[in-house]
Amino acid sequence: MATEILDTVADTPQVRQTQLLIDGKWVDAISGKTFATINPATEEVIAEVAEGDAADIDLAVKAARKAFESGPWSKMDARDRGRLIYRLADLIEENIEELAALESLDNGKPIRDSRAADLPLVIDCLRYYAGWADKIEGTTIPIRGNHFCYTRREPLGVAGQIIPWNFPLLMVAWKWAPALTAGCTIVMKPAEQTPLSCLRLAELALEAGIPPGVINVVPGYGPTAGAALVKHPDVDKIAFTGEDATAKIIMADAAATLKRLTFELGGKSPNVVFADCDLDAAVAGAEFGLFFNQGQCCCAGSRLFVEESVHEEFVAKIAAKAAARKLGNPLNPETTQGPQVDQAQMEKILSYIQKGTDAGAKCVTGGSRFGSKGYFVEPTIFDHVTDEMSIATDEIFGPVLSILPFKNMEEVVARANNTHFGLAAAVWTSDVKKAHLMADRIKAGTVWVNCYDVFDAAAPFGGFKRSGIGRELGAAGLASYTELKTVTMNLD
Ligand code: NAI
Ligand code: MG
Repeated sequence: MATEILDTVADTPQVRQTQLLIDGKWVDAISGKTFATINPATEEVIAEVAEGDAADIDLAVKAARKAFESGPWSKMDARDRGRLIYRLADLIEENIEELAALESLDNGKPIRDSRAADLPLVIDCLRYYAGWADKIEGTTIPIRGNHFCYTRREPLGVAGQIIPWNFPLLMVAWKWAPALTAGCTIVMKPAEQTPLSCLRLAELALEAGIPPGVINVVPGYGPTAGAALVKHPDVDKIAFTGEDATAKIIMADAAATLKRLTFELGGKSPNVVFADCDLDAAVAGAEFGLFFNQGQCCCAGSRLFVEESVHEEFVAKIAAKAAARKLGNPLNPETTQGPQVDQAQMEKILSYIQKGTDAGAKCVTGGSRFGSKGYFVEPTIFDHVTDEMSIATDEIFGPVLSILPFKNMEEVVARANNTHFGLAAAVWTSDVKKAHLMADRIKAGTVWVNCYDVFDAAAPFGGFKRSGIGRELGAAGLASYTELKTVTMNLD
């Protein structure tokens, strides 16, 4: 199936930053503690990183508050703020090879994806929002009486941002870009699995001229550093991406201070293939929609509904494609599938594969760990999956595709919507009417028609139901970092 794991490593990037960034200075954690970040392809330690906790979070929040209130950022001319964000995007572009390699080293994603997907999307997101900086406008409102009434959109304040490990840099961009554009200041806690690229980006932000204290980064663990950020009384908002179970804890912890919350959570997204579609395009889209990023995507098309009349042909084609994926060293440009991010994720995925087999689903390809070093899992496809099996209901977050045959549109709409999640969905058909009907009836924040994983900084992204609260990207993503103020003046 696959090439050798760990062929020669090309251009292992240098790790430049492993400390906390607080108030524009690189510092150790107050406790002096560090934690190891691991290369998931080799299981070796890449670097020891400073481990922040509540005491460091407190210092970071104070720095962010001071930077917000004293105004080097929130009161800067909006167009100049935009220019500094453009400058950060330019610096990322100048260092794209280094950043792509660092991302692949720490996360395990193939370098071809870091280069062609993650980094270009990061740069595009910063530039998209930079252009918004001087276009955040209010309205004038014709209220009753002799009054002049208008609204302003003001920066929300100090934003606490907690991100996962699946797209470490892209999640930084999705969080920083709208917050910076709105004039907010930031305390970010990157995921403990993947802190390195965020720290390097923070170094570039300083180099770009973003003032000290505007961006603070505190690596550490969720229940310590993360929870301290959520509970801190001087943080105005928490933006979180990750697991729904974590979001419930965050919502409870945020209740005491009534923080603004935006959540981007998990999914079990339906990908629906009708018999009248371009079948080869649907096969390619289904493979990409699930196996991209080792299956570690919140919007992974993990429930693949295939119309009965083309089911057999479809399964044969996608199984062949999955088996042809090239597993190996993420820094090798030939590699199309890297390791899972850590041992816990690999074990979780393998346990779901076991559950699928035990429940009687038919494994048509894969089904095991790949190799014995590194957290690799074979591209795995289960056919004849039924709706109640755990592989059809739970977010596996790995390279495991469940195929579910269906008979007609009524049936597939009901089954596709029979989930607490509602992040994304896709439909493959050549019938325009069917496409529109499906787009109308599927309960999800994003519906792709004859495509999958098409992302753009201008297009809002987020979940219906338990897949999230609020939206990121686009104008909606920016609005979530602002407060709306109404000003009413008596003109009598
Ligand atoms: P997680 O939700 O626990 O971690 C995400 C972030 O939240 C990390 O920075 C973590 O340190 C932080 N965190 C954890 N507990 C916290 C707490 N009590 N307070 C504040 N912050 C906290 O996700 P994890 O454990 O890394 O992955 C578990 C599963 O979650 C995956 O298998 C996958 O199913 C899902 N997941 C979904 C993601 C998505 O993009 N929707 C991303 C990552 C994971
Ligand atoms: Mg967790």
